[in-house]
Amino acid sequence: MTTLDAALSGTFAIGGDLEVNRLGFGAMRITGRGIWGPPEDPAEAKATLRRLPELNVNFIDTAESYGPYISEELIGEVLAPYSNGTVIATKSGLTRTGPDQWLQLGRPEFLRQGALQSLRRLKLETIDLWQLHRIDSKTPREDQFGAIQQLQKDGIVRHVGLSEVSVEDIKQAQKYFKVATVQNMYNLVSRNAEDVLEFCEANNIGFIPWRPIDGGNLESTSAEFKAIMDKHEASASQIALAWMLKRSPVMLPIPGTGKVKHLEENVAAAAIKLSDEDFRTLDAIGRKG
Ligand SMILES: NC(=O)c1ccc[n+]([C@@H]2O[C@H](COP(=O)([O-])OP(=O)(O)OC[C@H]3O[C@@H](n4cnc5c(N)ncnc54)[C@H](OP(=O)(O)O)[C@@H]3O)[C@@H](O)[C@H]2O)c1
Repeated sequence: MTTLDAALSGTFAIGGDLEVNRLGFGAMRITGRGIWGPPEDPAEAKATLRRLPELNVNFIDTAESYGPYISEELIGEVLAPYSNGTVIATKSGLTRTGPDQWLQLGRPEFLRQGALQSLRRLKLETIDLWQLHRIDSKTPREDQFGAIQQLQKDGIVRHVGLSEVSVEDIKQAQKYFKVATVQNMYNLVSRNAEDVLEFCEANNIGFIPWRPIDGGNLESTSAEFKAIMDKHEASASQIALAWMLKRSPVMLPIPGTGKVKHLEENVAAAAIKLSDEDFRTLDAIGRKG
């Protein structure tokens, strides 16, 4: 029988003091089509959340803009008060004008309102990890980073992360606050963020790859990939997650789903231990895209 235990993925201490099991959960998919409104099957979405602590998944990524608000509301309803050392990482900095529409908004008052309202929906007194969803190109950076610095000083947020940033962006932000995590798109076949991942590893910054299983679309693209899948009796997504976990000790993958069965399949990847040779083979396959 497959072992379902996220603790098998190992741990990482976010900001040096907030230890989580590395294989986490992305809560963007417990919302409606276009990440807008309630999920098609609310009972299944809630069952998925309830299963998380049973599987030792204690790192959950969400955002006020998922739904908007729906993802945070469901997490607060189903999981608060949180057990198992659960860390909720949320975000602000995007506003929604309809399904699939996301607009940057980094004005200080919007970021502060976002954090205060996330606290209420998540039923928390402090947000363990608050992430700037995007650096807003229309708002001066010092205003955005200054507002975040103030949120931390006021005890509203404990640790701060960034999303979709370059190494230069991280260095600029570090003048205002310690950057605990970076969340960029990254998976076996999407490797544009390698330089950011390397910077994170060198500076003990948690790297949260979004879209870690390429939206559930990964398939074996070669006989070599298929042979590795067969050896581990695993799907392409499971092998891709195992590859990411081996890629770096700062890697915190957050596969997203609104279905219990898919959650269990994703957590099963924590038990897969790839050999160094399998790792190198997959690395070469992935770099070809
Ligand atoms: N920072 C950012 O800008 C940003 C952007 C996008 C996402 N994120 C975060 O990253 C998380 C992960 O990204 P993502 O959800 O876009 O992509 P993903 O995790 O690569 O893939 C999720 C998709 O794959 C499906 N899926 C999940 N597990 C599966 C399985 N075992 N078998 C088959 N299909 C499966 C899901 O559908 P079902 O629901 O049907 O399982 C969903 O459509 C999000 O949940 C969110 O928290 C952040």
